[in-house]
Amino acid sequence: INTAKPKHFITTADYTAEQLFDLVDRSIQFKVESKYNYPKARTERPLDGKTVGLLFSKRSTRTRVATETAVGYLGGNAMFLGGQDIQLGVNESLLDTTRVVSSMVDGIMARVGGHHEIETLAKESAVPVVNALSDKYHPTQILADLMTLHEFYHNKKNNVPAGVYSAHTQHPRETLKGLKVAWVGDANNILQEILVAFPKCGISVSAACPPGYTCDQDVIDIAQADAKKTGATVFFTTSPEEAIKDCDVIVTDTWVSMGQEEEKKKRLAEFAGYQVTNDLAARGGAKSDWIFMHCLPRKPEEVDDEVFYSERSVVFPEAENRKWTILAVFDALLVRGGI
Ligand code: CP
Ligand code: NVA
Repeated sequence: INTAKPKHFITTADYTAEQLFDLVDRSIQFKVESKYNYPKARTERPLDGKTVGLLFSKRSTRTRVATETAVGYLGGNAMFLGGQDIQLGVNESLLDTTRVVSSMVDGIMARVGGHHEIETLAKESAVPVVNALSDKYHPTQILADLMTLHEFYHNKKNNVPAGVYSAHTQHPRETLKGLKVAWVGDANNILQEILVAFPKCGISVSAACPPGYTCDQDVIDIAQADAKKTGATVFFTTSPEEAIKDCDVIVTDTWVSMGQEEEKKKRLAEFAGYQVTNDLAARGGAKSDWIFMHCLPRKPEEVDDEVFYSERSVVFPEAENRKWTILAVFDALLVRGGI
């Protein structure tokens, strides 16, 4: 019997830049193997006979489809356990649910409300737990963002047309270092995961959030300590124009996250002036070849159609990359024994 504590993926803050680069590298290998049969089509099914439980207390399109298809690709079975289907939250506690479910499955992908819930899951689970989003962090999203940035800048530097595969001759460590990412929006789980992941990869982050919307102090401390080591910068402002100055990438997300629906009216008023548009980018002085990222789902108030559906927008490759990065995470945790 294996009594070792299972390894989890709760936030990228728990891993080094090199470990994240390795995951990006393996994600690309999975993508190329699956889409181009290169270097050969996969025949191994390492998760044959194994099951991953998806404990989701909130809606999901990308994370759910990515996880179910990724587990299937490795030969395993994905079991979706939505809030409407199981006893959790109605007749049973998270503690009891975790002990029961983890006694029968080989891995858990969990989308929760408060971050303490994913911490309880990780502490009590007998099997690896992956955070599919909490109110504090969204690690698999930001891993996909690193992959998307790496692919985009790799292809740009090597003159490969967008969407065309080229053998990756440069390591993410080289393609990502020195980029400047501007965030315009809420101080939410996506920004917080960016802050604990990007500076340690050498990517500078400047974030504009409206007055009163601030990140957790522990997240800011991690970002600043990481930035100090790599030479990246971390900067907070309430001015979208100031955040955007000289940036390579503009990122945003919804102004009303899941669970905040009753604050919608107040938030829409307080985020006035934060919509990402070409005009905002020009006024703020973004680099002329800036690109746009968004984790999706997207509402028009945070970014207009002109930007969202433009050539600058990498939102759909970014969404697809959720699959390849989640594949790499489950392969690491369930097949290779750790990240
Ligand atoms: N980006 C993201 O997590 O999307 P879903 O909520 O659809 O999974
Ligand atoms: N900030 C959003 C992200 C959705 C993927 C939310 O938590 O609802």
